[in-house]
Amino acid sequence: MTDTDTYIRKLIESNPLREPLLRSVVKSLGLPRGSRGLDAGCGIGLPTLLLAEAIGAAGHVTGLDRSAVFLRYAEKVVEESGLLERISLREGDLGRLPFEENSFDWVWSVDCVGYPVGDLLPLLRELARVVKPGGTVAILGWSSQCLLPGYPLLEARLNATCSGIIPLVGGCRPESHFLRAGGQFQRADLESVEAVTFVHGVQAPLSDQIREALLSLLDMLWGEKQPEVAPNDWAEYQRLSSPQSPQCILNLSDYYGFFTYSMFRGRVPR
Ligand SMILES: C[S@@+](CC[C@H](N)C(=O)[O-])C[C@H]1O[C@@H](n2cnc3c(N)ncnc32)[C@H](O)[C@@H]1O
Repeated sequence: MTDTDTYIRKLIESNPLREPLLRSVVKSLGLPRGSRGLDAGCGIGLPTLLLAEAIGAAGHVTGLDRSAVFLRYAEKVVEESGLLERISLREGDLGRLPFEENSFDWVWSVDCVGYPVGDLLPLLRELARVVKPGGTVAILGWSSQCLLPGYPLLEARLNATCSGIIPLVGGCRPESHFLRAGGQFQRADLESVEAVTFVHGVQAPLSDQIREALLSLLDMLWGEKQPEVAPNDWAEYQRLSSPQSPQCILNLSDYYGFFTYSMFRGRVPR
């Protein structure tokens, strides 16, 4: 199995956790029925389906990604969803979108544009270029989690190793961090800029599906041995997170955990 296959499997396994939260985000956007939108960096197309459902049969979503492998998988996902007529997929680069100006009513990107850090301004300008005046540009990124209730120090140490969470990665400037995207929206001349954080919690008793999803998520976050974590902390984490461990934290009758996604949105000036 290649790294890509493993990544795709984990995206699918953890989807039951992420999908309800993404549904709430899509609902909050109030995308007009019958509108046309772009899912920038659509990956295997799971969020694309939620967008297509929200805009109804007369709407259309284009999913764009630079990975031909993900797009091939996305084709299958779209076909099986029964939403084939509402979705098209396109290979391309976010930095040079293969679309004319004013092609879409809105554009969104989840876990891609600006996430976790990056030079957001040119990408935002490119997204705004293809959106009609008055249309929405929204980007969304994973912003925090609390998955080891009762072990805050251990979780803080694990978080300090996770490239998605630490604010400075590879010497990036603080203002490049995803949670500073609001400043870049303003610099891109987007209007009515707003940040909103969405939370999704899970509580015992966990269904088999949610338990599998949590195990997959823990594996994605801290599956590899983290060199910065002391051996005794790592052993404790294994005891709490391994499905074979009798002390696996997901067995607790009072297990509760949550994670958040933060969204930045703005409007293209009329
Ligand atoms: C973490 S995945 C998220 C996929 C999808 N949005 C989701 O949430 O399931 C990031 C995606 O962005 C795509 N991507 C990254 N940089 C890109 C670029 N410059 N142009 C187009 N796609 C890009 C990757 O190929 C990958 O599919």
